[in-house]
Amino acid sequence: MSDPMRPRAALRTAVVWEVLQDALERRVKATGRPALDVLDTGGGSGNFAVPLALLGHRVTVVDPSPNALFALERRAAEAGVADRVRGVQGDALGLFDVAERGGYDIVLCHGVLEYVDDPAEGVRNVVAALRPDGVLSLLAAGLGGAVLARALAGHFTEARQALDDPNGRWGAADPVPHRFTADQLTALVEGAGLRVGAVHGVRVFADLVPGVLVDTEPGALEALLKLEAAAAEFAAFHSVATQLHVLGETRETPGV
Ligand SMILES: C[S@@+](CC[C@H](N)C(=O)[O-])C[C@H]1O[C@@H](n2cnc3c(N)ncnc32)[C@H](O)[C@@H]1O
Repeated sequence: MSDPMRPRAALRTAVVWEVLQDALERRVKATGRPALDVLDTGGGSGNFAVPLALLGHRVTVVDPSPNALFALERRAAEAGVADRVRGVQGDALGLFDVAERGGYDIVLCHGVLEYVDDPAEGVRNVVAALRPDGVLSLLAAGLGGAVLARALAGHFTEARQALDDPNGRWGAADPVPHRFTADQLTALVEGAGLRVGAVHGVRVFADLVPGVLVDTEPGALEALLKLEAAAAEFAAFHSVATQLHVLGETRETPGV
């Protein structure tokens, strides 16, 4: 489901798409409904929402940014899925001012938890938007990936600071308010009443390898995508991934 016009973008999204697509297929099968109701909290300009709508699902995007919602509307129209994508202004903490509690088969929370003041409350809210047998797709910045990236760039003091900081920040200029370990994210998901279906490391190598190696070597991008997909499954690589993806499932319906 990655955008064939932007092959490099696949490095950022391929692993998540793979997991998400599998979860969608299982929900379609379990519900017998080919079109699922998806809530994309902090869905921005529709990186996930528009491809999901292209698969036939109905997607509600909640995002505080009017600019992102404007871009979403334009992108959905260009893709011919404006009737299946609804953008509403709101945020994860005030979610039920604009979204239906218990109304969605799948809830996405991708790249949002980092910016929410109270991540535990944020996760509880997005989980409360799920139908009883729904699935949560949670993607957030990983602590170890940031430490590694700062160190490899020669910013050793910042790398150390991120390691010691309770929010995983490398300094006052760090634009990301919170980063997480896999244990922290799974604890948040379990604390909100879900069981963890899977954890994947995302962008284990992609942000570290020089772009020229990927862009000029024939077949390098495809080989790197395969390496990312394989490493994503290994717990050992979760501790150095730029992002971590957690699939949360309701306890009542294991494997569904
Ligand atoms: C890094 S972007 C991710 C966009 C999209 N989810 C994706 O994966 O491509 C973060 C998005 O979260 C939104 N955001 C920031 N704070 C938020 C909050 N408290 N609740 C919901 N969304 C928020 C921003 O407006 C932005 O669109």
